[in-house]
Amino acid sequence: MRTASHEQHTEAEHAPFMSDLLGGRLGVTAYRCYTEQLWFLYRALEGASGALAGDPVAGPFLHPELARTAELERDLAHLGGPSWRDGLEPLPATAAYADRVTACARDWPAGYVAHHYTRYLGDLSGGQLIRGTAEKTWGFARKGDGVRFYVFEDIANPAAFKRAYRALLDALPLDDLEKQRVVDECKLAFRLNTAVFRELGEQFPLSA
Ligand code: HEM
Repeated sequence: MRTASHEQHTEAEHAPFMSDLLGGRLGVTAYRCYTEQLWFLYRALEGASGALAGDPVAGPFLHPELARTAELERDLAHLGGPSWRDGLEPLPATAAYADRVTACARDWPAGYVAHHYTRYLGDLSGGQLIRGTAEKTWGFARKGDGVRFYVFEDIANPAAFKRAYRALLDALPLDDLEKQRVVDECKLAFRLNTAVFRELGEQFPLSA
């Protein structure tokens, strides 16, 4: 999955919105709006976890220490105040992404795993760079409110966690055709992320 999605990863990484965010060239409003989009997405990812807990394919991936909704809500309360939810709407690309996750969770657990991998392993990897930039650029306390989404308190060794996660993926009882469908879903997950970045980029173009 990692090799197959390499090209899509590079594309997502180099989306202008991401480069501008990581380059510290955007204001905190852009960061807040990005965090809001994540909230809609993680609600879809994690809203499904109850129904999938006993599923033989997706169930083993649902580690409670990955859950991010509560962290996003703390970050958003910090960024937007107590009424941060009022009138909040997802961007069209975020709504489409969340809908796809929800549909997979309902109809196709292996497809859900592709989405789970794309987000959580990414958060445990490159997500850490975003945290560093956010702390530096917008002055959040180290690992504090505003960047809790990036802090996995209960994962002491992310590298070991990622190794174990990849071993679980490799052990999935899927035939070759199904494996290919899962890889394709992973590529779609990257494209859905890039589409969200594109819409955020339209909303926060650099004035320069
Ligand atoms: C500027 C943005 C990004 C940067 C700087 C970045 C950086 C990285 C880095 C350094 C790794 C570690 C590679 C390794 O373990 O050898 C990684 C892995 C990963 N990233 Fe990103 N990334 C970015 C955006 C994204 C996005 C948007 C996604 C998808 C939502 C994503 C998904 C992943 C995944 C799934 C992995 C794990 C690959 C694996 O180990 O199987 N990344 N990223």
